[in-house]
Amino acid sequence: MNRMMTLVAFLQAQNCSNLPGSWRHPSTMLDFLTPEYYQRIARTLEDGKIHLAFFDDRLALPDLYTGHHAEAVGAGVRAVKMDPATILMTMGLATQKLGLGSTYSTTYYEPFHVARVFATMDLMLKGRVGWNIVTSLNSAEALNFGHSEHMEHDARYDRADEFMQVVIGHWNTWEDDALILDKIGNRFADATKVHRLDHVGPYFKSRGPFSVPRSPQGHPVLIQAGQSGRGQAFAAQWAELVFVIYHNLEAGKQQYAAFKQAVAAAGRDPAQVHVAPACYVIVAESEEAALTKRAVIEASAKPVDALVLISEVLNYDFGAKGYDEPFTDEELAAFSWHGFRERVVTYSGKKNPTVRDFVEVSGRGTIAEHKVFCGTPKSVADQMEEWFTAPACDGFVLAATHMPGAYEDVVRLLVPELQHRGLFQKDYRGSTLRENLGLPIPRAADWHNARKAAE
Ligand SMILES: Cc1cc2nc3c(=O)[nH]c(=O)nc-3n(C[C@H](O)[C@H](O)[C@H](O)COP(=O)(O)O)c2cc1C
Repeated sequence: MNRMMTLVAFLQAQNCSNLPGSWRHPSTMLDFLTPEYYQRIARTLEDGKIHLAFFDDRLALPDLYTGHHAEAVGAGVRAVKMDPATILMTMGLATQKLGLGSTYSTTYYEPFHVARVFATMDLMLKGRVGWNIVTSLNSAEALNFGHSEHMEHDARYDRADEFMQVVIGHWNTWEDDALILDKIGNRFADATKVHRLDHVGPYFKSRGPFSVPRSPQGHPVLIQAGQSGRGQAFAAQWAELVFVIYHNLEAGKQQYAAFKQAVAAAGRDPAQVHVAPACYVIVAESEEAALTKRAVIEASAKPVDALVLISEVLNYDFGAKGYDEPFTDEELAAFSWHGFRERVVTYSGKKNPTVRDFVEVSGRGTIAEHKVFCGTPKSVADQMEEWFTAPACDGFVLAATHMPGAYEDVVRLLVPELQHRGLFQKDYRGSTLRENLGLPIPRAADWHNARKAAE
């Protein structure tokens, strides 16, 4: 079979898409506080055979800018944040094949809780669930969870590594054939096939046994989006689907090759880790119509969007600095998202960039933050095919310019063109997310054997 693209929809459980100005777009629907809004999107994505609908998350409103939430809430800059796992269930019940992923934090949640939420969802949605593992980004999140400060960057990843051992350990404590369900013989399950984890480590203690049996896909698919060296090492070790931001095709080619090498160096098969850069698609029946659409989308962005969202992810109040004043080495060192900072340093060509550099180089809060594929179905497919065959990726994370129209355009205009070229699936391969992504089903016995061998 030809190599085919993995397509993922980049969703938010909030008032706007990834693009804050999307709520101001004239054709965006504003019923984002209802299940119908999310179910409508889910059905559209499933019509288009999209592999996965995935929710990002942050555990606080973006209130770092000016030190108060007034700017973000007043202008609707990601000013609502509902629990994505709950919304994912709502969408799952309106679909049969669409994969559903949610972000949950390893810094602020407990591993037993995360393991149980995702294992339960994976059973209720018959093996269609993925977990986007994030270490979270700012002190507003810390303050909501009873901490005075956000944990230091590399320590967050150390905690996340141990978090994964606990979660995956619990997911494997019920062996695949532990359930017997013999009413007459009064044998519900084979207790010798249900194990305690007995984890004791620097960050966590968790005993088990876990309280949720295995799902049809073994356990949820693991997703990650770390960009720094430490983040990529984490992704190379654990992730099966990796989201990235590539500044351009050339950078993408290099970073993609380097990451696949890191996966191989971690002893894993690079073909079984899909890499998908975030992008915006603006597609219409003619080039002219696409450019008109693009102009409407660009007009929906406001300057406050960038400042609020950069402050949020770098954990620094960008309102406290002159627009053209360079950041000091100390300030730069303290920024939370290292991959983001490094991109701005590289492409501004400045060791000490200014607020203006961060706004202009990152494009945050505007469509310039990600690669924009704009044009007719043919020209958009040409551009995506170039990235895919370079290769700079295994697929794409499709961010939305307006809701739900951006996904309706992708499904009605772009997907048929990609299918016609043999670049995208005409139907789902199976019913679980692992089947649809071509990923192996993990076996609990393998995990137990590896654990015994390590003892
Ligand atoms: C497509 C994409 C989606 C992301 N989604 C989230 C998210 O939902 N929540 C979050 O805290 N960080 C999110 N991130 C940020 C990463 O998880 C990670 O925190 C960030 O890349 C910083 O890691 P680094 O310091 O290793 O670069 C996302 C990144 C990308 C590229």
